[in-house]
Amino acid sequence: MSHYLISPDVMPTLADFSLPEELGFGEIKVPIMYRADYANSEWQPAQLTPYGNIEIDPAAKVLHYAQEVFEGLKAYRVGSQRANFFRPLENLKRMNRSAERMCMIEIPESIWMDGISLMTAYSEPFIPNESGNSLYLRPFLIGTKSNLGMGISDSFTFMVIASPSTIYHAGHMKIQIEREACRAARGGTGAAKTGGNYAAALQSAQQVQHRGYDQSLWLDPVEMKYIEELSGMNFFILQNGELHTPILNGSFLAGITRDSIITLAKHKGIAVIERDIPIQEVLNGIETGAVSEIFACGTAAIVSPVSLIADADGSTYRVANVDQLAADLRQSLLAIQEGREADPFSWTSSVQETFYPNV
Ligand code: COI
Repeated sequence: MSHYLISPDVMPTLADFSLPEELGFGEIKVPIMYRADYANSEWQPAQLTPYGNIEIDPAAKVLHYAQEVFEGLKAYRVGSQRANFFRPLENLKRMNRSAERMCMIEIPESIWMDGISLMTAYSEPFIPNESGNSLYLRPFLIGTKSNLGMGISDSFTFMVIASPSTIYHAGHMKIQIEREACRAARGGTGAAKTGGNYAAALQSAQQVQHRGYDQSLWLDPVEMKYIEELSGMNFFILQNGELHTPILNGSFLAGITRDSIITLAKHKGIAVIERDIPIQEVLNGIETGAVSEIFACGTAAIVSPVSLIADADGSTYRVANVDQLAADLRQSLLAIQEGREADPFSWTSSVQETFYPNV
């Protein structure tokens, strides 16, 4: 039995909403939001309301000590009236791993499914139906206890907002190796999807973007030798016909798209090797031709080809093949995500009827 209330203002608010021509990524928000508060040792009844500012105590833990975790997942409605999810319980598992790392409350599956399902069902008319576009769902959890002491919150707010979006970082990416800064420390919070990891990446992103590049390529924080990830995307190389990706080590995110690409590539008969990948080996491999293609992947970006790697000393390495295997994997993954082709891995699921408004 679910415990949520639908505000009477939700339907009139949705009736006044329309999608603009240009979506972008994360720009447009559907005008509703889901909220569940945890207080007095229990979850309070959740609510679906019009989208709007939230009140927060200025001494809330999240504002001072960054007690926050978030997720990103998509609902698709391509060539179909009805929306579907892609591996939504994997996002819940990761959210709860992140929450545990940040000493936050675990989100029960019922609250998670209520939140993403209500947001998707009520937003369904505004889910773009062109291939590649989707409803990007952004669940997040914040610690709200009002206390300036360094400590753990005992009250939390879980919310889901949603953005009809196009692909993040569509097109070829030029990336620069970050040789000075680190995104996350060994033993730190790098594998948790918490805002601080992304804040830590902003300065480097700003610097490389000033030089005309799209993203920083992060190296391991111990030896500054092995590849970790791009900010918000996992990294793959095609080396001598095999797909190689950095092995999970606790300091970068275990991407659900990363996991899906590994499964899909193996299904296509491509060998996939998870290992520590020295950056120097990749640069040499680009020069000798052993590394023929590079791409990154993430929920928002799907699969994004890399055309060039720049080093901090100004040298550049142009990748021989751009968007060949990447395009093939992107198309196969999207076809499953969008319900256009068979789903041999049972990754997609539809939104349950009970969540739809009865109009
Ligand atoms: C996602 O792919 O969902 C992410 O969290 C990336 C984000 C930086 C846009």
